[in-house]
Amino acid sequence: MLATHEVRIGDLVVPNNVFLAPLAGYTNYPFRKQCLKYGAGLTFPEMMNARGFLFNPKGTEALLHTEEEEKIKTVQLFGKDPALLRQVAESETLSKVDLVDLNMGCPMPKIVKNGEGSALLSDFPLASEIIREVKKSGKRVSVKFRVGLDEKRIVTEDFAKLCEDAGADMITVHGRTREQVYAGEVRYDEIARAKQAVRIPVIANGGVMDEESARLLLDRTGADGIMIARGALSNPQIFADLTGAKKDSKRQMILEELEDTMRLFSPHFTVVFMRKMVAFYIKGMRDSVRFKDRLFRAETEEALRALIDEIFPEG
Ligand SMILES: Cc1cc2nc3c(=O)[nH]c(=O)nc-3n(C[C@H](O)[C@H](O)[C@H](O)COP(=O)(O)O)c2cc1C
Repeated sequence: MLATHEVRIGDLVVPNNVFLAPLAGYTNYPFRKQCLKYGAGLTFPEMMNARGFLFNPKGTEALLHTEEEEKIKTVQLFGKDPALLRQVAESETLSKVDLVDLNMGCPMPKIVKNGEGSALLSDFPLASEIIREVKKSGKRVSVKFRVGLDEKRIVTEDFAKLCEDAGADMITVHGRTREQVYAGEVRYDEIARAKQAVRIPVIANGGVMDEESARLLLDRTGADGIMIARGALSNPQIFADLTGAKKDSKRQMILEELEDTMRLFSPHFTVVFMRKMVAFYIKGMRDSVRFKDRLFRAETEEALRALIDEIFPEG
């Protein structure tokens, strides 16, 4: 267990400093609800295209779905048009959102090619203008970014200062470069430099899989908190390990997530989504390879439930 503490993001008080990262394709409400139950202090839905709010508002609804359990509501936007991002932040659709996070770290070619995500690390004036404009919406604003584009173009300290100067209320630094995508060493030293450079809260991200790696990331960076992505995907109860919240059996956790997903999404989506999730949750278990194969052949909720019963027998 870590010695957790509150984080103040502007005037917003977050109960602890262990956050769930945004994960495209995964951090929907049922998954976030599990992470909150196991102690995550703050959770993020997957990144959303600012243009989508104008051109495909229906498509944004499922991604924005939230319920009472999620006391602090966040959204993560990507885009490069300051006026549009501000318009979205000010929109009725986001009226209940407490914190708008701006994605300036995504390395995916289709995003970067458009000058969005981590491309903004090489356009300081535009990045600054985006933060300033979105801030005018009156929302609290945070920025999630990487340490740089590659080893030769590390920007952490200057970019952290840029965010603070433009009015950001918090930053999250993923300690890898765009070139590294999601693999390789996390630059603790660079996250530490960001922490030294600004007064707003700095959240460190990258490589947390258990208590030991969580402690290392916090200790080596001096950051105000940590954000966990893949470590939560394979084990949402990592938040309980770190915060002391109560744990459940894996069976209980999976069945709850299945119920919520069924309630909010179509049966087809539920089966496809839960197959992926259960595959994560059984990683490392005996017979996991054999079960994984059968999981991906389960076509209905009933088939999925039968398999869950077999993998995690009751009692
Ligand atoms: C499948 C997947 C989807 C992701 N989606 C997002 C996203 O929507 N927004 C974002 O800022 N980062 C996204 N990330 C990056 C993570 O939030 C995080 O920064 C990265 O995985 C490093 O943390 P980790 O080492 O704990 O996994 C994604 C990563 C993965 C693996």
